[in-house]
Amino acid sequence: MPSNNKDIFILGIESSCDDTSCAILKNGVLLSNVTANQKIHELYGGVIPELASRDHQKNIVPVIDAALKKANVNLSQINAIAVTRGPGLSGSLLVGLSFSKSLSLALNIPLVEVNHMQGHILAHFIQEENQDIKQPSFPFLCLTVSGGHTQIVKISDYLQFELLAETEDDAVGEAFDKAAKILGLPYPGGPLIDKYAQLGDATKYKFPTPQLKNNNYSFSGIKTAFLYFIQEQTKLNANFVTENLNDICASYQAHLIKYLLKNLLAVSKETSIKQITIAGGVSANSGLRRELESLGNKHQWETYIPKFEYCTDNAAMIAITGYYKYLKQEFCGLEATPLARYDIQNK
Ligand code: KG4
Ligand code: ZN
Repeated sequence: MPSNNKDIFILGIESSCDDTSCAILKNGVLLSNVTANQKIHELYGGVIPELASRDHQKNIVPVIDAALKKANVNLSQINAIAVTRGPGLSGSLLVGLSFSKSLSLALNIPLVEVNHMQGHILAHFIQEENQDIKQPSFPFLCLTVSGGHTQIVKISDYLQFELLAETEDDAVGEAFDKAAKILGLPYPGGPLIDKYAQLGDATKYKFPTPQLKNNNYSFSGIKTAFLYFIQEQTKLNANFVTENLNDICASYQAHLIKYLLKNLLAVSKETSIKQITIAGGVSANSGLRRELESLGNKHQWETYIPKFEYCTDNAAMIAITGYYKYLKQEFCGLEATPLARYDIQNK
């Protein structure tokens, strides 16, 4: 591949949960993004941390190898390794972080640590070859919705994040996944609720909306109300779930989306920011994507939604965040340990 000394190649590694992923960037442009999903957790209805770290260990070398081959880049061309340091499962993070340290030491290049949630947000800046993307301008708001987080963040610059609201208990991804489990659907249930919801009546069943003083969220009460609702209805009709699956999914999903967007609208009004983005696994939800557009039209927002493949966990978002940190020479020492919890406001 033609390159000169000024080209900057970043190799990004993501292993915070159950996806092992590697991406290669050249001057901020994505050359490859390869992800190995772990299917084993479907058997258990949730991610088993011990099994996740073992699978990362198995997958990491083939995934990096495939990403390099797809990008047509050699390890000797790489300028820095960007790796997820947290938040996530410690054992899973340890595999990616330890591997990255060894690689940076062996290649004698800097290591850049990345906050996974910052990565989800900066997925909006993933630039593919020969493609122009519409990027948000600063400052913008991001509703980050994943399996472990639900936050509204103000982004004033590539690496400047301010947390404006968050969930006080469960994440919305958990509210999707737990409801799916109650319905007898396999893990992760979010995409399946999305699928069945597209065929159902979203107005059929109602669920409670917690009222918190600030713009924070709470999903544990909604989840419990959903459990009691299903238990009660199943007592009356043993086939209630199978007979009404589409309507249950549509009503529950619509309720979660309405609640997510209600607080986002309140924060947009309070901050007068109309550049609005969503990120994280749940931003793959078709209902949320549609409703965000429609609310945006009503309130003259400029809305931005990442490409489907950059919503769920991927190394492209880690590599792009690493690229911006590399430009600012923000490197990390080999003593860095994984951070199971990692404040998005930390640099
Ligand atoms: O960001 P992510 O891949 O991993 C974490 O960092 O947590 O998010 C995973 C979450 C899971 O809860 C999954 O069910 C949810 O994203 N998810 C969805 C959809 N696709 C993924 N939830 C609702 N609808 C979807 N289409
Ligand atoms: Zn994630």
